[in-house]
Amino acid sequence: MQIAFLVRSHAMFNPQRVIAAKRDGYTLASKDITALVNGFVRGDVPPYQMSAFLMAAFLRGLSNSETASLTECMLHSGKVLDLSDLPGTKVDKHSTGGVGDSVSLILAPTVAACGVPVPMISGRGLGHTGGTIDKLHSIPGLRTNLSTSEYRRQLEAIGVVIGSATKEIAPADRELYALRDVTSTVASIPLIAASIMSKKLAAGLDALVLDVKVGAGAFMSTVPEARRLAETLARIGERFGKPTVAWITRMDVPLGHCVGNRLEIDESVQCLKGDGPQDLMKITLTLSGEMICLGGLAATPDEGIEMAREAIRSGKALATFTRMVQAQGGSLDFLEPSVLCPAATVRAPRGVYGFIADIDAYAIARTSVNMGVGRISKEDDVDPEAGIVLRKKPGEEIAPGDALADLYTTRTNRLTEFSAAVSTAFQFSDKPPIERSRLVDRLEANEWAIG
Ligand code: URA
Repeated sequence: MQIAFLVRSHAMFNPQRVIAAKRDGYTLASKDITALVNGFVRGDVPPYQMSAFLMAAFLRGLSNSETASLTECMLHSGKVLDLSDLPGTKVDKHSTGGVGDSVSLILAPTVAACGVPVPMISGRGLGHTGGTIDKLHSIPGLRTNLSTSEYRRQLEAIGVVIGSATKEIAPADRELYALRDVTSTVASIPLIAASIMSKKLAAGLDALVLDVKVGAGAFMSTVPEARRLAETLARIGERFGKPTVAWITRMDVPLGHCVGNRLEIDESVQCLKGDGPQDLMKITLTLSGEMICLGGLAATPDEGIEMAREAIRSGKALATFTRMVQAQGGSLDFLEPSVLCPAATVRAPRGVYGFIADIDAYAIARTSVNMGVGRISKEDDVDPEAGIVLRKKPGEEIAPGDALADLYTTRTNRLTEFSAAVSTAFQFSDKPPIERSRLVDRLEANEWAIG
C-alpha cells in the first residue's frame, strides 16, 4: 500500500487528511501518526477527530511499521523511566483483558517476594473487561497515581509497585484508552498492541510476560486472532530490545469465582493465603514461573513455579502485597473479606439436573458493567462493591434451586434484568463437560510450543 505523507515541513498539520488517508486504506508515515497523537495529547486535535481516526484504524488496520510508530510516539508522549540503576532484572506482566482476571494482584507480590522486581503500570477497566487499577481503588485510601519518584522509591524498598498510566507515564495511552473504551474501538490488534507496549516500555522494565486472552470474554475471540496479537506484541518487545514471552490463555468462562472490583481483591487475598480457585491459580503460577525465569532467578519456568508456590506457602507473597498496599496509602482492612449482602441470588431453574456445562464470560462481564463494576461512559464512576460471585463453575453438579450466582449492586431497580442475564449465561448438560486447559499456546523467540 502506498505511503501517504501528509505532514509537509512548512504546511500546517491537517488531522482531517490523516483521518481520510487511513479511512481510504493508505499506510501512514511515522511523522503523520506522531503529529496526530502529539496533537491529541496537547489538546490541539479534539477527541472527535481522534475518535474518527481510531475508528478508521480499527476498520482498516495498521501495518507493522504503523503499529511500531504508534507505539513509539505513545511511549515518548511522557517520561520513559530509567530504572537501570536499581538492582535486578525488572519484569512485568500484562493481560490483554479478561473477566474475573485478578492475576496481576496475586502474581506481582508473589514474584517480588521471590526477588524479581516488578514495576507495573496498569489500566482501568476497558470495555467489558476489568482493570487492575479499578480493583486496587476499591481498597480505601489506595493511590495509583504515583509520581515517578514515588514509583522508583517503592520499587526499590518493596520490590513491587502498581501505578496507573499517569500524565507523566504514557499519557497518550491514558487518553486514547479512555476514548477507545467509549467509541467501540477496543478490539483492534494494532491499537491493543500499541496501548499495552507503550505503557509497558515506558515503565522501565527489562522483560515482559504477556497473557493474551482468547474466547467469548476476551477481545480476541479466536486462537488465530490471539496468536496474531501475541506475535504483534512480542515483535514490538523484541524491536525495543525487551525479551518477551506470551501465553495464550482461554477466557470463555470467568476466571475464579468473583467478578467485581472489591470482590476480586477479596479473592486475591484468598489466593495469596493459599486458598485460591484452581483455574485462577494455574494461570497465576504459570505466568509467575515465566517472570521468575526471565528475571534470572530460576533456570526454567517450572522452577519459577515452584518458587512462586513457596512464596505463597510461606506467607511472603501476602506480606509483600500488604506492604505494597500500605506504601500506596491503602487501608489494611482489605485483609478481612468484605461483609456485603447480595442483592439477589440466581438459582438453577426447575427441571435442571446434571452439570454446569458453560458460563458465558461476556454475558457475565456485560451484566457486571451494567451493575456498576465498569463504565458505560468515560466519566462514569465505578461502584467498588458491585459484582457477581459465581457459586458454581463448569463441571460442578447441579439440581433445581441450587445457587448459581450472587449479585451485588445498588441498582436494585434493575435486579430482574440482571438476574435474567446472569441466569441465561449458564448452560447445563446431563454429562460432565470435557475439561479444556486454560493454557492454549506459548510464544517465545518466534517458536510456538503447545501448553
Ligand atoms: N489492555 C491495554 O492495556 N490496552 C488495550 O488496548 C487492551 C487491553
